[in-house]
Amino acid sequence: MNNKVIDFKKSKERLMNKKFPNVSPIIPEGKQPFYLESNKALDKFQTILCDYQEYLLDRENKKEIKLEEVLVYFNRYFDAIYKELTGFDDSKVPKFKEAMDYAMLSNGKRLRPFLMLLTYNFCEGEDFLLISPLMVAMELIHTFSLVHDDLPCMDNDELRRGKPTVWKKYGEDIAVLVGDALYMEATSILMDMVLEFLYTEIGSYVATSAAIIIKLAGLDGMITGQVFDVMNTTNDKLTIDDICYMYDKKTTALLTASMIVGANMSSLYNGKAELIERLGICLGESYQIKDDLLEIEQTTEKIGKSVDSDKKNNKVTYVGKVGIEESKHRLEQLFKASMGIIDSMTTEKNKKESLVFKELIKYLMSREK
Ligand code: IPE
Ligand code: IPE
Ligand code: MG
Ligand code: MG
Repeated sequence: MNNKVIDFKKSKERLMNKKFPNVSPIIPEGKQPFYLESNKALDKFQTILCDYQEYLLDRENKKEIKLEEVLVYFNRYFDAIYKELTGFDDSKVPKFKEAMDYAMLSNGKRLRPFLMLLTYNFCEGEDFLLISPLMVAMELIHTFSLVHDDLPCMDNDELRRGKPTVWKKYGEDIAVLVGDALYMEATSILMDMVLEFLYTEIGSYVATSAAIIIKLAGLDGMITGQVFDVMNTTNDKLTIDDICYMYDKKTTALLTASMIVGANMSSLYNGKAELIERLGICLGESYQIKDDLLEIEQTTEKIGKSVDSDKKNNKVTYVGKVGIEESKHRLEQLFKASMGIIDSMTTEKNKKESLVFKELIKYLMSREK
């Protein structure tokens, strides 16, 4: 696989140097150059991803590899790239970076960045480093949404990813600011990338990707979904269509954005936009229904967040409205539709990537946390 190194830090440095002319762009002795750690982690992840593809092609003769193992290496790569792309002079506010990292480096599934990367790869994109800053920006925004979602003024939850929520550990004021900072850090990474590629042949793709992420995280998506959610918490007049509207905005938007960006950065997007969006809708709706079901069927220990959250807040949910059986039936329909979309996009060239994508969809539908 093409492993071209692109130094996204450069534009950040350039800006910093303009603002603070005394900052030296030379890497201090003993410090790793940018991307060294993540390059190592990327090599390992790419190796296991290739082995996994080979295994899926020939299950009889190859040693079994589970998707979970691939995800472990993906998460290591993700952590490395997150650390390299974020950071600031925190000497006067040391606990704050700690609180940001507490939110970001916890036990999240990193589904959105993984989905972005798989879509990119499925659409024949090969330069994983090119997609990486977009992956980090997406996860920063998702984590910001969770940090604010847990606040006492929202869902009032004390447990997230198996640990006390950010507000519970660091206080409400810091949690609000951590959310703000994660969001702004995402915007800053996106802007750096746009500037870095401004006058190159892929400049317009990068700018489009940044715009898609910001719009679908904001009033065209996630934020509006959260607004609808808090405004209708105990409204039992909500129809199924209303609930689907809410899920579409609060959950589907970011999942779809991840996939559209993955496809947009690759070469195969033309003519495929509608299919990718349809896949996003199927996965988003099923993901949120599954999330509601997990709260009913799993334990707090297993899912790492309170199983009483919806009940405590009297939330109207899809499962609450139509019942468990009907919801599972809907999941089954969405599963088949998603697999069908992948099949319709599969060619001789992306056969291996298609198999991985299908395994991820199976995992999402049957996940236990
Ligand atoms: C939780 O998202 C909120 C929903 C939109 C259902 P995830 O289930 O992706 O949470 P993490 O990131 O793995 O903790
Ligand atoms: C969270 O939805 C969705 C966003 C933060 C955008 P929920 O409130 O239903 O998710 P959990 O159960 O807290 O993860
Ligand atoms: Mg909520
Ligand atoms: Mg919540």
